[in-house]
Amino acid sequence: MEDSYILKIANLNVDYVTRGSVVHAVSDVSLSIPAGKLTAIVGESGCGKSTLTTALLHYGMGQRRGAILYQDKDILKLKGEELRKFRWSEISMVFQASQSALNPVMRVGEQFIETYREHDRKVSKKAIVEKASQLLEYVRLDPKRVLQSYPHELSGGMKQRVMIALSLLLDPKVVILDEPTTALDVITQDAIFDILLKINREFNTTMILVTHDFGIVAKVADYVAVMYAGQVVEYNDVRRVFKRPQHPYTKGLIESTPSLLSNNEEISEIDGTPPDLRNKPQGCVFHPRCPIARPICSREIPAARIEGDGMVACHAYGHPLYAQESNIEKVGG
Ligand SMILES: Nc1ncnc2c1ncn2[C@@H]1O[C@H](COP(=O)(O)OP(=O)(O)O)[C@@H](O)[C@H]1O
Ligand SMILES: [Mg+2]
Repeated sequence: MEDSYILKIANLNVDYVTRGSVVHAVSDVSLSIPAGKLTAIVGESGCGKSTLTTALLHYGMGQRRGAILYQDKDILKLKGEELRKFRWSEISMVFQASQSALNPVMRVGEQFIETYREHDRKVSKKAIVEKASQLLEYVRLDPKRVLQSYPHELSGGMKQRVMIALSLLLDPKVVILDEPTTALDVITQDAIFDILLKINREFNTTMILVTHDFGIVAKVADYVAVMYAGQVVEYNDVRRVFKRPQHPYTKGLIESTPSLLSNNEEISEIDGTPPDLRNKPQGCVFHPRCPIARPICSREIPAARIEGDGMVACHAYGHPLYAQESNIEKVGG
């Protein structure tokens, strides 16, 4: 791959240890994120997407093991002041349901000032307001009005734009967006994706977009990592994934996404439900739901195979039976 990678996640594990049980929310994830591109992380609810992405900022309750390399620094080794400075200025995040993260008793303008000052006390209020205004204009909001507003005076879509503008305040190289449009209507969603793509292209900001919707992946992503039960089961260039998904879970997700199917195609849901992350199936985690599972699948964990620039973890990869199953070219593009 020509792209250089800005983040390299190596053998990352995140466990939530609760009374008497351990939730393996992220299991042995290795993934490299290309600089300047938009990488989507997709999978059903509860598969570990938020846990994985918050770990990239060394946030969250879980116990983290492994390494997350950013410019040859291991983020998981950052502490105290160094970690505080790193967050927002190198990598920022729009958290899931972040609209409610805006402080309800503070005007939006003050929140921009506060966020900036947590990183740099010396900059004048005027300079921060100027920068905030530019960013708000960039996300197509009226800065005069919005900076004076309290969060409850703004619509959901406006608040989400404010969060996106805020995430850009310290010129981060990477922005992570966790389901940024889930609560919004389709038109507002599309407007926000237009803005994200513009930011990605014009500022060359690397973006990591978390979504459960493969339709959104098709619209905006350059690369996609498919997560299932805490693992990345497939990773590749989006066009390749749509042309020929290699993992049966990926194929299942695509075929169950209404917006990707043509009129005469029927939606086919993936049978069953994701496993309990405290007690995962032996072998391949997907085998109990897999339409092409063979005996080996319940016995052995499939190794990650390199597939072009991407990766797939499936015992059936390269198997003639599997090649036959993969007639997905009619979908997406
Ligand atoms: N603070 C926590 N304590 C215990 N379990 C958690 C915690 N946060 C998330 N989990 C569990 O970790 C798993 C992955 O959750 P999450 O990362 O939120 O998935 P996703 O974002 O894909 O929906 C789920 O089983 C969830 O219940
Ligand atoms: Mg989530």
